[in-house]
Amino acid sequence: MAKLWGGRFTKETDKLVDTFTSSISFDQKLAKEDIQGSLAHVQMLGECGIIADEEARQIQSGLYTILDKVDKGEVDFQLEHEDIHMNIEKLLIDEIGPVGGKLHTGRSRNDQVATDMHLYLRTKTKELIKCLEKVQMALINQSKENFETILPGYTHLQRAQPVSFAHHLLAYFWMFERDKERLQDSLKRINVLPLGAGALAGTTFPINRGRIAELLDFDDVYPNSMDAVSDRDFILEFLSVASIIMVHISRLSEELVIWSSQEFQFIELDDAFCTGSSMMPQKKNPDVPELLRGKAGRVFGGLIGLLTVLKGLPLAYNKDLQEDKEGMFDTVETLEGSLNLLVPLLETMTVNTEKMRNAVAQDYSNATDIADYLAAKGMPFRQAHEVIGKIVIYAVQKGKYLLDLTMEEYQSFSRLFEEDVYEYLTPEHVVDARKSAGGTAAAQVKQQLKLAESKLVKN
Ligand code: ARG
Repeated sequence: MAKLWGGRFTKETDKLVDTFTSSISFDQKLAKEDIQGSLAHVQMLGECGIIADEEARQIQSGLYTILDKVDKGEVDFQLEHEDIHMNIEKLLIDEIGPVGGKLHTGRSRNDQVATDMHLYLRTKTKELIKCLEKVQMALINQSKENFETILPGYTHLQRAQPVSFAHHLLAYFWMFERDKERLQDSLKRINVLPLGAGALAGTTFPINRGRIAELLDFDDVYPNSMDAVSDRDFILEFLSVASIIMVHISRLSEELVIWSSQEFQFIELDDAFCTGSSMMPQKKNPDVPELLRGKAGRVFGGLIGLLTVLKGLPLAYNKDLQEDKEGMFDTVETLEGSLNLLVPLLETMTVNTEKMRNAVAQDYSNATDIADYLAAKGMPFRQAHEVIGKIVIYAVQKGKYLLDLTMEEYQSFSRLFEEDVYEYLTPEHVVDARKSAGGTAAAQVKQQLKLAESKLVKN
């Protein structure tokens, strides 16, 4: 088949080369962005008198016809036309005749593809911010329902100090809040227009890049044409932010897996979000959070892949850059899918408040509080820590918890102990005593929840 760039060639392209170099199988996802960019470009060409107004109008109407066909799924993209840009140009020429060939005046596929990617990522970034907000909302709702729920807080996966479950869940709210900020901030760099850079050096036509930027709602244009066509930092940045988001999703998923295990039984995931075993009839497996955890690896792969493609690339455009797409599309889809699943997973889980509360009653996670008790009575904290350490060994040997020790037993370790120590040791008191800013006490969590909700209202 004749190529749009066939003039300089004396032979047909080898079929293997067509297959190997073609990107149409995946970059057809950019069809709408490609047409959107072309509509703005051709309008500018008309306004600047580079092509006749009538020609601009004809091209625009042809592009709208193709857009309509794309929407209806009526377009048959051809591998021989290599990529989305040449496929659409070919469709346009078929639609309106040779005047369609004027569309590419003053433009290269190099600045065109970069523009498509900017447009695509701008839309997707905004959508992903909305997806993150839905996850945040689910976390807020579970937090509200579990305001009074107490569970062990862990360090080293050893019980450390009791915390409110709302406080634990809200920790993830803030991670996702930072992720939203990162996405929001990246829009500044996404919203810069490469079009008008030509192949690498600019163009001889008297184009108006500012006008295209205005039509496509970009804040600025790249000040350097070579940078414009070879910059993929905005994609790297997206993949980096996506990787960080997946770290957060993965950590939360890991907790869901642990909490729903027989050993913990802190939560139960809804049947609709679990799967069974083909052999063991009793099994109910947390496949969804496991897979969410696993998807993180795939997203990191996209980031490492593109970093590797870009390192060592000389300026300006190189065909290697075509490898920027599949990882980006895959990451967008993986992230969207993961966030969308996390919402119902969190919303439908059952929280076993009794199991959580019992876990806290049957451990030594209130030890810090009696150390604080002695310290508040004047004993240096380091010494109090030592005394309580001894009490814990003593209690463990006696098979008792700290609440079960008698006053004589306490006083044999320090005369500072009085009856009020027992009140200090209840999980509720332990949690509520942590009133420092950002702490787990009910009053602090209430304030935190308010702040969290205000973040969602603002956007
Ligand atoms: N399909 C190409 C890509 O994705 C478009 C740009 C091609 N430019 C070129 N000079 N071969 O990068």
